[in-house]
Amino acid sequence: MKKYGIIGYPLVHSFSLSYFTEKFKKENLDDCEYQAFPLQNISDLPEVIKNNPELCGLNVTHPHKIGVIYYLDKLDEAAREIDAVNCIKIVNNRPVESFFSGELSSMKVRLEGYNTDAYGFEHSLKPLLKKHHQKALILGDGGASRAVAYVLRKLGIEYLIVSRRARNKQVAYKDLSQDLMAEHLLIINTTPLGTFPETEGCADIPYQFFSDKHLAYDLVYNPAETEFLKRAKANGASTKNGLEMLHIQAEKAWEIWNS
Ligand SMILES: NC(=O)c1ccc[n+]([C@@H]2O[C@H](COP(=O)([O-])OP(=O)(O)OC[C@H]3O[C@@H](n4cnc5c(N)ncnc54)[C@H](OP(=O)(O)O)[C@@H]3O)[C@@H](O)[C@H]2O)c1
Repeated sequence: MKKYGIIGYPLVHSFSLSYFTEKFKKENLDDCEYQAFPLQNISDLPEVIKNNPELCGLNVTHPHKIGVIYYLDKLDEAAREIDAVNCIKIVNNRPVESFFSGELSSMKVRLEGYNTDAYGFEHSLKPLLKKHHQKALILGDGGASRAVAYVLRKLGIEYLIVSRRARNKQVAYKDLSQDLMAEHLLIINTTPLGTFPETEGCADIPYQFFSDKHLAYDLVYNPAETEFLKRAKANGASTKNGLEMLHIQAEKAWEIWNS
């Protein structure tokens, strides 16, 4: 049996748990199972690995995307630059010495960290980009914002981060003028505002300055049309929610675990 799972806390509604359970059923992957490991403290990760020798891969969610790095043997380039991991590949290496000694039980477990949020965002955004999407505003300055910023740098799109704290070169919400809105035709919400059940929430930006040249992208996927997207659309913008990003990042994790 190959085991996969998710670590995070409190893990009440896990997208990954339902996604992979459903996938294994649909694709008749009878030798695979997926389990949720609600970990309050990331220091319990080694215990989970030890007690589940058949584990091949883990998704990582809030609040462990940064803290988990301490426990990993290798990071891919995106995870290193973003400084957050949402996917771990677990590789069981039999050390060469044990091969020669015939000792088959001494497996060395190696944990590799990846950031598939960045991959999911990049591949869901790219088909929507038009020539005029040269500059972006990123709303929020958490972990997801760093993954988005990494992708925009990779794509050569200039960006400003809009934050309640507005440190360094960041912009405060109150400073979002008509000119700034007109200059930045890609606007990405990386705050959790508007997520079910508090669906009436949305970032405090001047929505009246959205136009039909704007692309509004919300990382939130529940509800499908957030208040942010509704308001942007009402002013002519094209919109995209975070559902495709979520599916792409999950499939990328599957590819990493099986490569
Ligand atoms: N679709 C996907 O595949 C995908 C992947 C990853 C994450 N997400 C979603 O993206 C969202 C952000 O994730 P995250 O891990 O980055 O979350 P986070 O760290 O909790 O929050 C992100 C940032 O949002 C801002 N923020 C939080 N509460 C706010 C409020 N009440 N008003 C204004 N700004 C607020 C904060 O930035 P400032 O303090 O700088 O203002 C915070 O750092 C979540 O909803 C998550 O579910 C989706």
